[in-house]
Amino acid sequence: MYLSRFFASRLTSLRTTATRATSPSIARLSAIRAQLSPSPISPSSYQARAMSVPSTMKAVIVEKLGGPEVLEFKSDHPVPTPQEGQLLVKNNISGVNYIDTYFRTGLYPSAKPEILGREGAGTVAALGPGPNPYNFKVGDRVAWMTTGGYAEYTAVPAAKTVKIPDEITDEDAIAGFLSGLTVITLAKETYAVQKGDWVLLHAAAGGAGFLMTQVLKSLGAKVIGTAGGPEKVALVKSLGADVVIDYRSEEGKDWVKKVKEVTDGRGVDVVYDSVGKDTWEGSLEAVKRKGTIVWFGNASGPVPPLPLQKLSPKCVKVARPQLFGYIETREEFEFYVNELFGLLKSGQLKVKIHKVYPLEQVAQAHTDLEGRKTTGKLLLRP
Ligand SMILES: NC(=O)c1ccc[n+]([C@@H]2O[C@H](COP(=O)([O-])OP(=O)(O)OC[C@H]3O[C@@H](n4cnc5c(N)ncnc54)[C@H](OP(=O)(O)O)[C@@H]3O)[C@@H](O)[C@H]2O)c1
Repeated sequence: MYLSRFFASRLTSLRTTATRATSPSIARLSAIRAQLSPSPISPSSYQARAMSVPSTMKAVIVEKLGGPEVLEFKSDHPVPTPQEGQLLVKNNISGVNYIDTYFRTGLYPSAKPEILGREGAGTVAALGPGPNPYNFKVGDRVAWMTTGGYAEYTAVPAAKTVKIPDEITDEDAIAGFLSGLTVITLAKETYAVQKGDWVLLHAAAGGAGFLMTQVLKSLGAKVIGTAGGPEKVALVKSLGADVVIDYRSEEGKDWVKKVKEVTDGRGVDVVYDSVGKDTWEGSLEAVKRKGTIVWFGNASGPVPPLPLQKLSPKCVKVARPQLFGYIETREEFEFYVNELFGLLKSGQLKVKIHKVYPLEQVAQAHTDLEGRKTTGKLLLRP
């Protein structure tokens, strides 16, 4: 109240001064008025909150549960309007993650119709109304994590958005973003990997696995990776894994025996298992006495209900983490993003992009991912 009276009186005195002046330029007067305006939505600042945005966009909608065929491409979907606390981002690249398939099939419940896609990178096209605590500007190059990435534009929470450093491309940022934050939190918080630990990592050539192998090696762990097929095995070996087992080959089918041999019969300190149904029993056998199993995904289906007494003979600990629980606050999010971007900038963490699919081909991307045909990260170009 006091401030608006103050600004009103300043404006009146300016108007008087301008009238008295010999040749007051109207443009100059408007500039002075704009400068003094107390309102955050004066015409000039309002323009600074949005670039020109079309009313419709390309997007992929899921209306019913099912296979990749339920991913329906539309070219005339309404562009969302950012609400308070949100930004509208024009996506240059979006990530495809295994979790997208869980929402598509209904393994994880979510309201439909839905636009899948948990992460993306692009340009801030508009700021929602209200405060802007993280100082985003229209035109900033950002990475975000929420949902709705299979689209040209996404309204995202500013609190889950960060600026991308100049040294990192949009593609590399998203190849490392959700997957990279996941593996860093798994290796540091879920179980704090120590130098010399024996670690069993399933699906080590995948989007998360490719990054996890590197993070584990950088922490000084001895890594046993599993992967399906000779090409994937070679890829994981190239990352420095100590032992790599092709668990789909005849020889590798008894991967538990091999893990025991390599660890002198003890078993591993920790298993990172994102395959779930098909590997669960083996992971329980392969873990050492007093060891830990981190179950963090369901690529082959969910782990069946676990009778807890199965854990007692070896005093095994089981964790079932999800990334979003580790980066809930802005402080946590920034902490891990800074760590990730630092690793990407220094080249200590390398990303691998399997393929950048045009948005129209998202169903093919899901088919390839679920068909175990990919290594590294799948990206979409909206
Ligand atoms: N908890 C979290 O917060 C979190 C966050 C990110 C990811 N994840 C989980 O991490 C895992 C990896 O995710 P991603 O997006 O990076 O996928 P991805 O690893 O690139 O793809 C999944 C991989 O799982 C393996 N797999 C084993 N059995 C399979 C089966 N029956 N069907 C399909 N694939 C099978 C395949 O590798 P092989 O051919 O080598 O076996 C396949 O390439 C997923 O389980 C995902 O849910 C969890």
